[in-house]
Amino acid sequence: MSDTALLFSPLRVGALELPSRVVMAPMTRARSGPHGVPLALSATYYAQRASAGLIVAEATQISDEGQGYMRTPGIHTPQQIAAWRVITDAVHDAGGRILLQLWHVGRVSHPENREPGSRCVGPSAIAADVKIFTPTGMHPAPAPHALTRDEIAATVGDYAQAARNAMEAGFDGVEIHAGNGYLIDQFLHANANLRTDAYGGDASGRSRFLWEVCEAVMAAVGADRTGVRLSPFGVFNGISDPDPAALFATAIRGLDRLRPAYLHVINLEVSGDRTTQAESEVDVARFSREHFSGKLMVAGGYGVDSAEQALQEGVADMIGFGRPYIANPDLAMRLRRGLDLAKPERATFYTEGPKGYIDYPALACAVNERA
Ligand SMILES: Cc1cc2nc3c(=O)[nH]c(=O)nc-3n(C[C@H](O)[C@H](O)[C@H](O)COP(=O)(O)O)c2cc1C
Repeated sequence: MSDTALLFSPLRVGALELPSRVVMAPMTRARSGPHGVPLALSATYYAQRASAGLIVAEATQISDEGQGYMRTPGIHTPQQIAAWRVITDAVHDAGGRILLQLWHVGRVSHPENREPGSRCVGPSAIAADVKIFTPTGMHPAPAPHALTRDEIAATVGDYAQAARNAMEAGFDGVEIHAGNGYLIDQFLHANANLRTDAYGGDASGRSRFLWEVCEAVMAAVGADRTGVRLSPFGVFNGISDPDPAALFATAIRGLDRLRPAYLHVINLEVSGDRTTQAESEVDVARFSREHFSGKLMVAGGYGVDSAEQALQEGVADMIGFGRPYIANPDLAMRLRRGLDLAKPERATFYTEGPKGYIDYPALACAVNERA
């Protein structure tokens, strides 16, 4: 059996006491009902996975403008907050801890997937070179409206309000989604951000929006309940930069000064459910560690041995598991006991209903035992 001594040791992260370093990574599953209201189904799904040291719930839009895909949940209306409360209660009743990932897709969006009247926005009016799945098929992402200074300030305010809403919904904290080519990542990258004001230009200008969102969310709910997720060197969703090393050194050092509870980084080549061809061979976790002195979570392609090794080598403090959590609700117990893992079925990653969502069984030996 594998050595899991560190993986199953407790860790304090900000205000959170984690029983293990096994984290369920945030995953969009497109199971929400109309108007971004999560369904009771999701309470079952997350409660089934409550033996994780921590759950980071799926990316959740902070406003109608922040939505890009079909059936994703929101955290900006009273109905959404009430529905999330059912989910956080179920996870807490099952002994777990759960954060909400705050999301604004920016230009990676299509009007067919948003509430009527809401706009597609971004740092500059440059369309992402991506196609978006909609009720009428795949369509190119349109050119976004370039946010004005006042609109940027309002968007920062939307993040803070969404964070407060998450606390009202019973979450233990929030994670700011600043990776994978969505709004904050669009501000960071030179090919999506041609602004000449304080939010563009050099790496620190392009990092300003990230830092302001982080500060606003920390002021709203506490630094000890705020995490940030980045995908340094990633090229997912059509972003690129001539000097990603300088960009992410600047962005991460600025976050380090702000001291959120943790930084979460995604290893190259495994963003979302696709494998992206990265331009660089950088070890993202080690790179991030050099520039960030707080708690570090890393996700992307981990199994029990590589996770334990990353912890033993001090590369990271927590390990995020994405796809393994889709098919193994009792993943923590399986890793601890060296049991086989079930394989997730890709075809049901983003489909409606219970199939491929809440019907992956826990192993019988998990009954009455929490890993
Ligand atoms: C179905 C699916 C949905 C995902 N949705 C999100 C998301 O909402 N937010 C996010 O930051 N990453 C998302 N990811 C990326 C995962 O959090 C994780 O980084 C990635 O799957 C790599 O980890 P793994 O190799 O353990 O699966 C998603 C991945 C998958 C497979």
